[in-house]
Amino acid sequence: MGLLTLTSKGFAWFHKGHPWIFRDDLEKIRDAAPGAIVTLEKKNGEFLAQGFYSDRSKIAFRLVSRNREAMDREFWKGRLQRAARFRQAVVGKTNAYRLVYGESDGIPSLIVDRYGDHLVMQTLSQGADHLTPLFIELLSEMFQPASLIIRNDLSVRGLEGLPQEKKTLLGNLPGNIEVYEEDIRYWVDPWSGQKTGSYLDQRENRVRAGTYFRGEVLDAFCYQGLFGLHAARAAGRVICVDSSQEALERAAENARLNGLGNMEFRRENVFDFLKKEVERGRRYDGINLDPPAFAKSRGDIASAGRGYKELNLRAIRLLNPGGVLVTSSCSYNLSESRFLEILQDSARDAKAEVRIIERRGQSADHPVLLTFPESHYLKCIFLQKIE
Ligand SMILES: C[S@@+](CC[C@H](N)C(=O)[O-])C[C@H]1O[C@@H](n2cnc3c(N)ncnc32)[C@H](O)[C@@H]1O
Repeated sequence: MGLLTLTSKGFAWFHKGHPWIFRDDLEKIRDAAPGAIVTLEKKNGEFLAQGFYSDRSKIAFRLVSRNREAMDREFWKGRLQRAARFRQAVVGKTNAYRLVYGESDGIPSLIVDRYGDHLVMQTLSQGADHLTPLFIELLSEMFQPASLIIRNDLSVRGLEGLPQEKKTLLGNLPGNIEVYEEDIRYWVDPWSGQKTGSYLDQRENRVRAGTYFRGEVLDAFCYQGLFGLHAARAAGRVICVDSSQEALERAAENARLNGLGNMEFRRENVFDFLKKEVERGRRYDGINLDPPAFAKSRGDIASAGRGYKELNLRAIRLLNPGGVLVTSSCSYNLSESRFLEILQDSARDAKAEVRIIERRGQSADHPVLLTFPESHYLKCIFLQKIE
């Protein structure tokens, strides 16, 4: 088995609990094959852990276990069973959720999402990629999926020297799958939709937002309209805005599927739309803002901050007194405290008294590993404009 020896600085970092080791923190690398399971040791030869090795990424080691144990078929089956048991405990009334969330489930860089009887897998490091045949066998044995596809069309795979690809691994995936999320149903297309077909991380926030939204509601950056669908069950009218025609067509189909005739769909840049709505003097009782990640790297934080500020300032201006703004940031690089500062600045500039009514994150099927801040990326704040 390959062996990695930490520098003293690397050991101090490992000791804090983070599951990744960077190449610069390795003193020696012996017999480590790309994607293989290797042993991590201290300078004095003391065993520390086992994990995945990558010969390309800056992240040279990803922790799998702090124990000396065989990482055979039974070991991986046990990890997948543990992930599935956890979902049984935390996932509510839905058949679309994340079954495996990488490091947080002890299977670094493996993502498995479930849409009804269909599974979608992503392998984001050499180690997880190397185990793909075993994961296919185990997922097939444990869940008997109607289909299993791999959505590895992600640029991060380039950092591992892995190609971007999409493949059907088992069965046949229909173009559209109908799934449910509490009281709404929706169509999902795991082959060509965004992410693996749906933003599963927002599931609980969507359901919760639906309990507040009444009257005139705006779902900005709506994708396939899911926040809007939850809102439309009790709201008077919901306007859904997105720049993607495909997403809006799907959102309209989803409204029909649920028999909701009070939703409207607009293809527009949300920044422009909000500006015009302020100029037109429009008012809403509920607004959802769920933009894409503006801060993809640390260097983007300042410009991302300006983007979030502009959106939130305009949204607060558009709210009626008593109205609710559900505002999200999925940029890992922008901390929750920075996001809250931006919201404070927005409220101040809008000259509005605003209170936080809920402070939320990603759904429970995306658990945050305490020693792995990277596993916590979604901030979702529910605000109310005081009457
Ligand atoms: C994070 S997703 C929204 C997910 C959605 N709220 C859900 O729960 O399924 C962001 C969406 O914003 C859209 N988008 C990105 N930039 C945009 C812009 N400037 N104006 C309008 N839509 C935009 C994308 O097409 C995508 O559908």
